Amino acid sequence: MDPAARSESVDSVPPLVVRAWRAWHRRGPRYAWHKTLRRTLGRWPGMKRKLLYADPREYWTLRGGLDYFREQEGQEQRTRRAQWMARRIARYRPTSILEIGCGYGKQIRALRANLEAPITGVDFSATQLAMARAYLEGAERVDFALASGGRLPFADKSFDLVMTSAVILHNAPPLAEAIRREIVRVARRFAAHNEDLDVTYNRYGYDTAAWYRDQGINLLEVGPIPSAPYDSQFCVADLWPR
Ligand SMILES: C[S@@+](CC[C@H](N)C(=O)[O-])C[C@H]1O[C@@H](n2cnc3c(N)ncnc32)[C@H](O)[C@@H]1O
Repeated sequence: MDPAARSESVDSVPPLVVRAWRAWHRRGPRYAWHKTLRRTLGRWPGMKRKLLYADPREYWTLRGGLDYFREQEGQEQRTRRAQWMARRIARYRPTSILEIGCGYGKQIRALRANLEAPITGVDFSATQLAMARAYLEGAERVDFALASGGRLPFADKSFDLVMTSAVILHNAPPLAEAIRREIVRVARRFAAHNEDLDVTYNRYGYDTAAWYRDQGINLLEVGPIPSAPYDSQFCVADLWPR
């Protein structure tokens, strides 16, 4: 996929009615209904969570890798945030990286520009992963797996650094807890997170740094991300030696 061609389409977004009509015809009623609910119900976040976010995997799959790509690539601050995190993570010189909830691969692309280590991207949504495969086609030492962060198909300590960027926050407490435990299990040295603190219909607003402190795990850094659009928190946990 040519990222420049995709970005071009970001600039010429037609009105909502036209998009809804196109969505209905091209991708069917379920997708069109989902998109309409996403764009409406703004004043009723409780109802929006119930109707739209009861199953996060379905939500991200219907939302789709290409749609998510267009939204994100249309916002310059998201790119700056991904680059900032990639540089920050590169300082730890990880020898291998797992990104849980890699979406269409924005963070992996930024990481690849800053370090040589092999990177694995995992996502529980097939549409997000399909977009990631296209977006990162030809990138070296990058591979993908379809899996839930709450149940990773990897042995203990398989990756030097495990990271999430806006992923744990999208999961209800039991699954969020399972993801954190899986991270601690499969990471060898570091866990790095960009998990915002605000609450919306699809964001639960967890304090990830506080969770590590509660587990008695040392934090190497914690603080906001410059120019982040939300109440951000970036932290890196020291998981070595245990
Ligand atoms: C907000 S997007 C972030 C994508 C990417 N990390 C980035 O920063 O651009 C959240 C992604 O996490 C995935 N995700 C959310 N919960 C997940 C889970 N429990 N297991 C695997 N993937 C998950 C979604 O499918 C979606 O692609």
